Amino acid sequence: MQRREIPFGRPMLGERERQAALAVLSGTTLVHGPATQAFEQAFAQRIGTRHAIAVASCTAGLHLALFAEGIGPGDEVAVPAMTHVATAHAAEFCGAKPVFVDVEPDSGNIDMNALAAAVGPRTRAITVVHYLGLPCDMDAANAIAAKAGAYVVEDCALAVDAGYGERKAGGLGRLGCFSFYPIKHLTTIEGGMVTTDDDDLARRIAQRKAFGYDRTIAERAKPGIYDVTALGFNYRMNEVEAAVGLAQLASLDDFQRARSANYRALRAALAELAEITVFAPLKGKARSSHYCLNAVLPRDGSLDRDAIVAELKAAGVGSSVHYPNAVPLMRYYADKYGYRAGQFPVAEWLAAQSISLPVGPHLQEGDVGYIANAFKAAILRGRGRQAAAQ
Ligand SMILES: Cc1ncc(COP(=O)(O)O)c(C=O)c1O
Repeated sequence: MQRREIPFGRPMLGERERQAALAVLSGTTLVHGPATQAFEQAFAQRIGTRHAIAVASCTAGLHLALFAEGIGPGDEVAVPAMTHVATAHAAEFCGAKPVFVDVEPDSGNIDMNALAAAVGPRTRAITVVHYLGLPCDMDAANAIAAKAGAYVVEDCALAVDAGYGERKAGGLGRLGCFSFYPIKHLTTIEGGMVTTDDDDLARRIAQRKAFGYDRTIAERAKPGIYDVTALGFNYRMNEVEAAVGLAQLASLDDFQRARSANYRALRAALAELAEITVFAPLKGKARSSHYCLNAVLPRDGSLDRDAIVAELKAAGVGSSVHYPNAVPLMRYYADKYGYRAGQFPVAEWLAAQSISLPVGPHLQEGDVGYIANAFKAAILRGRGRQAAAQ
């Protein structure tokens, strides 16, 4: 088969996005404008929440989700050990302590039994992560939070349109935080969105993403005159980003269809590899948004993940790792809180042995078959190395 170059992900920007960006750049309103408002409304409608507040990134959203509720020193925020560091950093930004919880071996989502054991009198919030787009057991998460007097933040960075019963991720806890980084389900270059049904919280988040001003530009009777009634940041999304996001929403149904078809085809093509774990895209009430196909190698380390990734790369197949270490074992957290290898066995297994394969809408005709063949060939060679070493 002729060699191909298939990146793990690629931003899907077309003429509609270019025109939308140019229209903003040709005008004079670059922030605080109608594109942001329209994007927020359209996104809230898509997710099914009363509010959506555009922010500079998912990280900014996760920070605001804790900060706007007054979380600070002395408080604890439960987070999964397997996630992007942003989930834990948000608690650190507030001066709170992230309490790490291991994840389930059949989904990569936070383990609800371990979570129930980890919450205590200092727990103010639980940030769950819908790992690679599969919603957590939110009924359990909300029940644990209610019992502890805490609330649930959903990290939906990879979970746009992920389903849970009749609802979508982002509308399942008190707040949801989305990422529009270039290779996410949709992009605004950098950017994020906070979703919530809580009117008062939405107002506090909107205020704190813009310095804590007491009124928006539109609300100012006298230009330039405002008061500041809370501490806040500059976490706004600009108008070019919002216009690009709005344009992306027009293509999102097509992107999602392609993503799930690619996912299903790749999953079927890899089914014969008995030693590889691929988490089910449906679990209980949860339906995945198919961010990628995560192939997890055996726990015993009998296949060398890095060698397989190198072979994929040599064949032109891009891949990624979600995520490169259990967050509590990242140097910053290990040094600060004294975590050691072995304390989060499932998260450590995923960090060491998983490979994220591409299924995004950037794949061309025949790419899924090419990726599957390259992966199978790399596994076969890995088995050969394993046999030779015995
Ligand atoms: C689970 C999770 N949360 C948060 C983030 C951070 O998103 P952003 O880059 O928009 O701040 C990421 C980034 O990939 C992520 O995977």
